[in-house]
Amino acid sequence: MLLTIPNLYGKSFLAEKDFTKEEFVYLIDLAMKLKDEKKHGIPHRHLEGKNIALLFEKPSTRTRCAFTVACTDLGAHPEYLGKDDIQLGKKESIEDTAKVLGRMFDGIEFRGFEHNKVKMLAEHSGVPVWNGLTDLWHPTQTLADFLTVKENFGRLEGIKFVYVGDGRNNVANSLLVGGALVGMDVRICSPESLFPATEIVELAQEFAKQSGGRVTITSKVEEAVAGADAIYTDVWVSMGEEDKFAERIELLSPYQVKMEMIEMTGNDKVIFLHCLPAFHDLETSYGKNIHANHGLTEMEVTDEVFRSKHSKVFDQAENRMHTIKAVMAATLGNME
Ligand code: CP
Repeated sequence: MLLTIPNLYGKSFLAEKDFTKEEFVYLIDLAMKLKDEKKHGIPHRHLEGKNIALLFEKPSTRTRCAFTVACTDLGAHPEYLGKDDIQLGKKESIEDTAKVLGRMFDGIEFRGFEHNKVKMLAEHSGVPVWNGLTDLWHPTQTLADFLTVKENFGRLEGIKFVYVGDGRNNVANSLLVGGALVGMDVRICSPESLFPATEIVELAQEFAKQSGGRVTITSKVEEAVAGADAIYTDVWVSMGEEDKFAERIELLSPYQVKMEMIEMTGNDKVIFLHCLPAFHDLETSYGKNIHANHGLTEMEVTDEVFRSKHSKVFDQAENRMHTIKAVMAATLGNME
C-alpha cells in the first residue's frame, strides 16, 4: 500500500482537533498497513532503540497493552509508570517531571484525569506525548474506532455514525470532533442534560463545514439511528463518577442499545461499537454490585447485541494496538 506521508515527526498526539483531516486519515491508513505487516510477519521496527514512558494514573487493559505490544513490535522499550511510581504533580511539579522524563525517554504516553497535565507534559518534555485518555478527550480510541469503520465500509466520509448515551464524556467528545474532522455524518443521541458542551459542538460544526460532514445533537433515538451505519455506546458512569449511578440509570435507560434499536436503523449491515469495558452481563463484580443495588442485569448494551453479528467490539479492541503503533511510528519513528 502506497501512502502520502504528512510530516508528523516530533508532533504530540493530544486531541483530534490538533490534526488535519489528511493527517488523521493518514494515521488510520498507516495503522492498516502496520496491521497487515504484523499479520504477515513483516518486521516494522520503526522505533529501534527508543525508550518510551507509559504513565498511567488510571487503570487500563486495552490502552496499556496496546502501547506495550506496539512498542515491542516497533523495537522500542516500554517502561510502565503507575500512579504510585512517580511524583507527577505530588512531590514534583508536572513541569519538572516532564523535563526529567524528556531527558531519558524518547516519547511519553499519559493516561489521567486533567487534560492540562498531558498538555504540560507535551509543553515541557521536548519529546512527543500521546494522550492515552484524559477527562476531555480519548483520541487513540477514535483512531481505532475509525479503523474499524473503514475495515467494514471501506470509507469514512458520509458514514452515519451514531453515539448513544452520555454525550458529555471524553469518548463522545472525541468521536464528535473526530467524526466531523473526517467528514462523517455524526449524531450524538443523549438526554438534553447530557448533551455535549457547546464549545465542543461548535468545534465539530467548524470541522464539518470544512470536511463536508454533518453534526446532529438530539435526544430522539428514532431520529438519531435512522439509516445508521454504526451505533456506538459507552459506560453510563465514567471512572471517578461512581456516585452518579442512580441518576444515570434513570436518565440513560431509554438509550440502552438493544436489538430493537439495531432494527430501528433499517440497515442489516449496521455495526455495533463500544470502547470497552462494557456492562452487558453479570460476569464482573462491578456488574454484580449494580445488579444488587439497582436491579439491572445489563446496562448500556444488552448481552444480545454485544454478542450479535453486528458487534465489532473485539476488532475495535485489537485495533487500539495497530492505531497506537501508527501514532508512535509517525511521530517518532524512522519511516524510510
Ligand atoms: N477503551 C479503553 O480505553 O480501554 P482501557 O481502559 O482498558 O484502556
